[in-house]
Amino acid sequence: MNNKIILKTLNKEQNSKVPVWLMRQAGRYLPEYREIRSKFKNFLDVCYDPHTATEITLQPIRRFDLDAAIIFSDILVIPDLLGSNVEFTEKLGPTIHNKIQTIDDIRNLKKQENHKIQNVYKALELTREKLPQDKALIGFSGAPWTLACYMVDGRSTKNFQKTKDFAYNNPKEFQVLIDILTEEVIIHLINQIKSGAEILQIFDSWSGILNYENFYKFVILPTKKIIASIKKVYPNIPIIGFPKDSNFFYQQYAEETNVDAVSLDSNFPLDVAIKTLSAKFVLQGNLDPCYLLSKNTEILEEQINNILDLTKNINFIFNLGHGMVPESNIELVEFLVKTIRNYTK
Ligand code: CP3
Repeated sequence: MNNKIILKTLNKEQNSKVPVWLMRQAGRYLPEYREIRSKFKNFLDVCYDPHTATEITLQPIRRFDLDAAIIFSDILVIPDLLGSNVEFTEKLGPTIHNKIQTIDDIRNLKKQENHKIQNVYKALELTREKLPQDKALIGFSGAPWTLACYMVDGRSTKNFQKTKDFAYNNPKEFQVLIDILTEEVIIHLINQIKSGAEILQIFDSWSGILNYENFYKFVILPTKKIIASIKKVYPNIPIIGFPKDSNFFYQQYAEETNVDAVSLDSNFPLDVAIKTLSAKFVLQGNLDPCYLLSKNTEILEEQINNILDLTKNINFIFNLGHGMVPESNIELVEFLVKTIRNYTK
């Protein structure tokens, strides 16, 4: 029997408790995070310092009774490993200095030697040592399509039109990029399992901007390959897929990629997910992170109860539909975790 309730749920064992963790549970809404963050200029240096990354990973676990810690890192460590030269600037977010603009830029991609990505694995080892035994450790990666979006457009944009334009006009070469990223994601996730990750989550934050044909090529097929490669070696490590905003394509994504669980964005109707997905897949997420901005608990409480009522008879992990925002109210997070902890199915 597993004493980690999130693993029980992911293994579809009988579980009267609802596990809870929150995307971006470590970060700027916590004063103890901001204090450490102020000592570093570039955000990735925080991720590449194993003791600091460990400390930040544990911060929300000390404050709240969450069921899992997610390693403090970023999806952009893979582009950085491939020579993208990623910098995070105040307001603008990530900037990729070596953007992909030509076919040659893809041919010239090279894994950097002695890259600091190794420190992410050290942070996982340190975190697993320090994490209480009843809490699970989550490793993660960006999915190839979302990583390619940042590598081609060079920063966060509304619709990643440069990436689409490049992909549509250079299909062979873009596929090479997707294939390179697929291999690196597999290696990165397997390294995280070897370093102590007990659950994996794959973030495809920009999967929702693709039409069906391209969703199939750039989201479903690479993710299917990633999951098959990992399951071959580690069949018992649960994998959560998060194809954010993919509405009608969620179902096929889940069926074809063979994920164990799907994380639902806030726009996906929970009752539809229960009808169409819950028989085969564990569900996670859905609460709009903006409910954590309120000044009082009542509005949030209604939302929590709604979700708990709907998911009473299925395998469900409480989480948000997307990451927490920096303005989130700490007291509401405390309230949310307590409410779920006190609930019995
Ligand atoms: O607590 C956790 O969830 C673990 C840590 C984590 C971070 N980023 C830390 C972070 C995780 C899982 C991510 C994933 C990530 N990173 C995604 C996928 C999820 C999503 O949000 O869609 C994406 C697209 C990124 C890329 C990224 N990193 C962007 C676009 C930004 C800038 C936007 C922002 O919120 O500032 C980041 C920065 C980042 N990653 C921060 C944190 C805590 C804030 C940086 C800071 O403190 O200066």
